[in-house]
Amino acid sequence: MPYAKIIGSGGYLPPRVVSNDELAADLATRHVETSDTWIVERTGIHQRHIADDGTTTSMLATKAAQAALDNAGISASEIDLIIVATSTPDFIFPSTACMVQANLGAIGGAAFDVQAVCSGFVYALTTADAYIQAGRAKTALVIGAEVFSSILDWSDRGTCVLFGDGAGAVVLQASNEPGIVGAHLGADGSQMGILSAAGNVSHGKVTGDPFLRMDGQAVFKLAVTSLAKSAHQVCEQAGIALADIDWLVPHQANLRIINFLGRKLGVPDSKVVVTVDQHANTSAASVPLAFDAARRDGRIKSGDMVMMQGVGGGFTWGSVLVKM
Ligand SMILES: CC(C)(COP(=O)(O)OP(=O)(O)OC[C@H]1O[C@@H](n2cnc3c(N)ncnc32)[C@H](O)[C@@H]1OP(=O)(O)O)[C@@H](O)C(=O)NCCC(=O)NCCS
Repeated sequence: MPYAKIIGSGGYLPPRVVSNDELAADLATRHVETSDTWIVERTGIHQRHIADDGTTTSMLATKAAQAALDNAGISASEIDLIIVATSTPDFIFPSTACMVQANLGAIGGAAFDVQAVCSGFVYALTTADAYIQAGRAKTALVIGAEVFSSILDWSDRGTCVLFGDGAGAVVLQASNEPGIVGAHLGADGSQMGILSAAGNVSHGKVTGDPFLRMDGQAVFKLAVTSLAKSAHQVCEQAGIALADIDWLVPHQANLRIINFLGRKLGVPDSKVVVTVDQHANTSAASVPLAFDAARRDGRIKSGDMVMMQGVGGGFTWGSVLVKM
């Protein structure tokens, strides 16, 4: 059975950077009180990128995908599978993946979206890995992309300061050399209420609540325990010790969650990739953006063992182990 090897990565962030101070000043005009000090102390976030009105998830996804193709040195015509992980698709349908396929001119292969909120990228990566191992695809684009700012309630300071927009992508190719060596996914639907955007469009009207709602403390606890458990499960499955991991690329939700997780797993800070300070939580885009940043600045190198981890609404979680 072939392995799925990562042969390229790319990221794209919308150009508008909003600092905590800028956000606090803007929210003050809506009588919502927050501060740089509170946000940094509780989350480690300093700034986020916010898409301008009219910029959609498929636009961000296409730019990240093109950057990943350029990095891999292959043309779009070689792609026979595109999976986009997103909770903020442009439309009800067609899928964002089909829109990206058309934008890239990669017509013909399979294209579909995966919805697992902030775990979306690891769910999509695991799916693409299964396609490649089964011989059903040779070269896949796996993308996490979000315009999460579009589902934030800017009068809810407990959530609106936490998120940002962006997209990240990897190119996977069938190879005889090890690539993805382990994957573990999990979900607990009974916890759906702690993080949701429980709205819909029905008969031409928005029904329910279209904004993100969260029980922050419940999410915090479940995120740390499920990620720690998943890390052990995927290592056991792959026959690898946690000490063999060169880089941990966890979902970038909150620096305190990342630090708790690192301590629980015994992984030193020097092996943990952090971008949440610069990007905030970009949901499905956070893991591929962090992975790409660490690959491009030379930290993640060929031969390294990397663990990527996602966690989020559903409640969902997952881990993927990759030999670079
Ligand atoms: C959201 C989170 C940062 C809140 O931190 P917390 O320590 O749990 O804070 P609480 O919600 O208990 O609120 C504490 C106080 O801060 C206030 N507060 C909340 N958001 C605030 C903000 N942006 N600015 C200032 N004060 C704020 C609350 O109103 C509350 O005030 P009160 O004590 O007067 O009632 C934290 O729960 C968290 O990180 N959760 C995980 C969130 C996450 O990562 N979600 C995505 C996962 S995919």
